[in-house]
Amino acid sequence: MAEPLVEFRNVTLDYGGKIIVQHMNLKVFPGETKVILGPSGVGKSTILKAILGLLRPQSGKIYLHGKEISRLPERKLSLVRRRMAMVFQHGALFDSMTVAENVGFRLRELALADASAIAKRVREVLRFVGLENAASLRPAELSGGMRKRVAIARALAPDPEIFLFDEPTVGLDPVNFYNIEQLILKLKHQQRATMVIVTHDVGSACRTADSIAMLYEGRFIFEGPGQDLKREKDKRVRAFLDPSQAGLLVH
Ligand SMILES: Nc1ncnc2c1ncn2[C@@H]1O[C@H](COP(=O)(O)OP(=O)(O)OP(=O)(O)O)[C@@H](O)[C@H]1O
Ligand SMILES: [Mg+2]
Repeated sequence: MAEPLVEFRNVTLDYGGKIIVQHMNLKVFPGETKVILGPSGVGKSTILKAILGLLRPQSGKIYLHGKEISRLPERKLSLVRRRMAMVFQHGALFDSMTVAENVGFRLRELALADASAIAKRVREVLRFVGLENAASLRPAELSGGMRKRVAIARALAPDPEIFLFDEPTVGLDPVNFYNIEQLILKLKHQQRATMVIVTHDVGSACRTADSIAMLYEGRFIFEGPGQDLKREKDKRVRAFLDPSQAGLLVH
């Protein structure tokens, strides 16, 4: 089997001693869509922060292509971070810039190409997300779903090795929810993108994931494909899938 693109070995994550994730093992293979599922506040975003190297493990190791990144000095870590793209929950666009400027931002910042090559790449990724006609608009003129698509185009522009999505569909109306999910599936099937998607939406997790890991009290209590999740007997998983069963929870 291929080497994992990202791997956690026995990773414990904390904030000032408060343990969030304990002795976690995680493997994300090239081209895989891994969904981390779990209720609010359980530590899903914290795992993405650790992948990005914004939070260092209290113990354990994190690897990228088999090389440990969790103990790298900040200067080297920032180079590693450039190979990843994070799509934040709220898009995090620059209000004063146009859509095209937002999408080209990292390419300009990292001086990855000259101006005409950047403009070409920006057009290409805007077409990919279906926003080729919105290049000169500003974020305030866009709907929530369009902003999210711009954020995805911006993430895609530097051709990252891995996409990290934090709650990509949360707060969207059904049409935009569907559109963003389709875009994720397009990244998966057309770009063979490697993705880690954090969500608490079970349906979306099952439709997009190759593999789902469900986080509960600092540990993964389920790992496997969506069809296995639906058959899982663990009471905590059942209660999450069907809240009417929440009485089954032991505490
Ligand atoms: N910078 C921080 N300092 C201290 N505690 C934090 C910090 N960030 C998050 N936490 C705490 O860590 C826990 C996990 O937070 P995290 O944001 O990873 O959860 P989440 O699963 O992403 O939740 P949500 O679904 O609400 O986004 C929460 O109890 C949160 O209050
Ligand atoms: Mg979160």
